[in-house]
Amino acid sequence: MILLVTGGAGYIGSHTLIELYRAGHTAVVVDNLSNSNPESLRRVAKIIGVTEIPFYKTDIRDREGLEKVFSKHHPDACIHFAGLKAVGESVEKPWEYYENNISGTLVLVDVMRRHGCKNIIFSSSATVYGDPAEIPITEQCPKGQCTNPYGWTKSMLEQILTDIQKADPAWNVVLLRYFNPVGAHPGGTIGENPNGIPNNLMPYITQVAVGKHPELGIFGNDYPTPDGTGVRDYIHVVDLAAGHVSALQAIRRRCGLAVYNLGTGHGYSVLDIVNAFQRVNGVQIPYTIRPRRPGDIATCYSNPAKAQKELGWKARYGIDDMVRDSWNWQRHNPDGYPEE
Ligand code: NAD
Ligand code: UD1
Repeated sequence: MILLVTGGAGYIGSHTLIELYRAGHTAVVVDNLSNSNPESLRRVAKIIGVTEIPFYKTDIRDREGLEKVFSKHHPDACIHFAGLKAVGESVEKPWEYYENNISGTLVLVDVMRRHGCKNIIFSSSATVYGDPAEIPITEQCPKGQCTNPYGWTKSMLEQILTDIQKADPAWNVVLLRYFNPVGAHPGGTIGENPNGIPNNLMPYITQVAVGKHPELGIFGNDYPTPDGTGVRDYIHVVDLAAGHVSALQAIRRRCGLAVYNLGTGHGYSVLDIVNAFQRVNGVQIPYTIRPRRPGDIATCYSNPAKAQKELGWKARYGIDDMVRDSWNWQRHNPDGYPEE
């Protein structure tokens, strides 16, 4: 298949490109580079052994720009990663988040249908479950109250894409709810490149390890979890990337609307992650216990059985691989990708 990959220069998109090419697909990338660097695409091309990945520095809100890409490449399906994703920033700038993520997706989907491309895989998040009604979380678990505008953009876009598919059954819409992506390609040349001080746990830990911050703050140790710290379903980004290739099967068999959790089904606490990082990498991570972070929940992990049953997809990497590969990327690229 020929895939349009929006946001393909970013963290998950760049890893997904590798898995797509390995599976015999080709891709064209559209990214406005608002949170990424084109060096990631050059490194991806090197990993997969092609001279370059077709790339357009285009915003998904730019209808004319998208029209040109569709007219030239005629993609069969779109894997839609493009979006703003910083939870805290979304609270400060809700308009920017709704406008970028929702308006952008509306333009994208309109251009897609005008070109007869009615297959989309959408990057959603476990955040749509809010404080989940059941653990482990199945896809049947009702969606919940999001605690920030970023989360609401995911929840609303799920609804918008669901309604579009309902109105026109020619659409195939696959909603992938990611749990907590971490890790990097084992080669250590591509990985997560957060702007400023990371909000998420793993990039914060690797930045402490590389000396950018003196210590990790652990947000609360009084949760009702085995050691009191928050429990999450961390998933290696290479497994997550492979999940997108598997999701193409759902499109091939004309799934209509399909929703899948992409997680491992295992919950690890913050202290589990810190301890695994120290043990596997031989690097100490000093930490202090801080107050709980507003909006956090105690425990969140998936039941990934549906993706296994219907797509034959299952996470292969464990926690040791995740902490090893996160560190491998960070220590070889302490400042991320070089500034262009
Ligand atoms: P990322 O920021 O690394 O990648 C997103 C890419 O989209 C960036 O390259 C950015 O430049 C691009 N982009 C943003 N707005 C755009 C626009 N208007 N037009 C064109 N390009 C635009 O983030 P990621 O971690 O790779 O996440 C990919 C997707 O998965 C996002 O939609 C994110 O919300 C979702 N997601 C991520 C996580 C996570 O923890 N990383 C978890 C759940 C869901
Ligand atoms: C966060 C987002 C969620 C998003 C997900 C994946 C919030 C409230 N939620 O989820 O919307 O989909 O990332 O990108 O931000 N922790 C620390 N110290 C830190 C950082 C984190 O103790 O410096 C703890 C947190 O309290 C949590 C765990 O580590 O228990 C994981 O945090 P994080 O990586 O931010 O992911 P989530 O909160 O699960």
